[in-house]
Amino acid sequence: MSTPKTIFIPGAAGYLGSALVPRLLERGYRVRAFDNFSYQQTCLLPHFVHPNFECITGDVRDREAVRAALEGTDFIVNLAALVGAPLCKQREKEAWEINYEAALLIDELRDPSQGYIYPNTTSGYGTRNPVEGLCGEDTPQEPISVYGLTKVKAEQELLQKPNVVTYRFTTVFGLAGRVRLDLMPNDFVWKAIRQGFLVVFEGHFQRSFLHVTDVADVMIYTIENFERMKGRPYNVGHERMNKTKRELAEKVAELTGCYLHFTDLREDPDKRNYFISFKRIQEVGWEPKVGWDDGLRSLHAGLKTLHWTIPHANVEYY
Ligand SMILES: NC(=O)c1ccc[n+]([C@@H]2O[C@H](COP(=O)([O-])OP(=O)(O)OC[C@H]3O[C@@H](n4cnc5c(N)ncnc54)[C@H](O)[C@@H]3O)[C@@H](O)[C@H]2O)c1
Repeated sequence: MSTPKTIFIPGAAGYLGSALVPRLLERGYRVRAFDNFSYQQTCLLPHFVHPNFECITGDVRDREAVRAALEGTDFIVNLAALVGAPLCKQREKEAWEINYEAALLIDELRDPSQGYIYPNTTSGYGTRNPVEGLCGEDTPQEPISVYGLTKVKAEQELLQKPNVVTYRFTTVFGLAGRVRLDLMPNDFVWKAIRQGFLVVFEGHFQRSFLHVTDVADVMIYTIENFERMKGRPYNVGHERMNKTKRELAEKVAELTGCYLHFTDLREDPDKRNYFISFKRIQEVGWEPKVGWDDGLRSLHAGLKTLHWTIPHANVEYY
């Protein structure tokens, strides 16, 4: 049997990392997690007993720590970031250091044979120009938030380098070891349960959604199909999950029985209002497994069990 591949995951203790790590271990990979545990996360604790799991507490801006952590690894899935427009606006300098400079530092320090997987977001499509039809990977990215700018700039530079795959994720939802309630579907369901009503602005806005377990799934698929996929960005999701905010709110109301109120009084800081094309990821043979109904039903079932306020849940961002 060949030696299992070792996956280096900066930001492994985050929302996406906490979905990815157990699935990689189950599939026989070695995992080297790396995180500064900035939210006092406990989500990686169950894995310390696993012989293929190791974990380093460190900062991705620390050149020597990153250099040492990269040693002997086959792939990098870089999930370390300050995530979301409000957080990056508050901590702009750190956002550039972590989301952009450290992403390039990892590239500088890796051996070019180590595959580098980097997640960007779809939030930069169509912010200044109205988009006709679906946004493909060639639709110009024109982010307006610090968050979007740091991610897009890092992606653009990384795609000039060998052995890189980047993703443009739609709005991820669902439950993982680190709970994020700032993502729109998670926030809607949480508020619907807690308050019994939802106030929805820009209900006609077009959005696209992806379950968090499918994020882990596409990352493993990429590692296992890297030669075919490398050198390009991929929108990740499915046209079936292109929905308006109103459709989401109505589905949440159906599940929870909450009251809906639509208003014009607020605006999305990233002006995300466009449907996405996922043709490219479908052409390489991947599509999500978790659908709209199952994803939202399981989110509702899970959040109903939480009878306390979650510490360190980010502020809402949609
Ligand atoms: N969740 C989504 O909807 C979504 C969508 C598109 C792209 N992404 C991207 O995916 C990545 C992961 O997002 P997430 O939702 O898991 O966010 P998250 O905030 O849950 O995870 C980020 C992780 O990075 C760690 N981290 C932050 N600063 C660090 C530093 N200086 N050194 C080491 N570790 C550090 C945090 O402790 C955390 O564990 C980010 O790059 C994000 O931009 C996420």
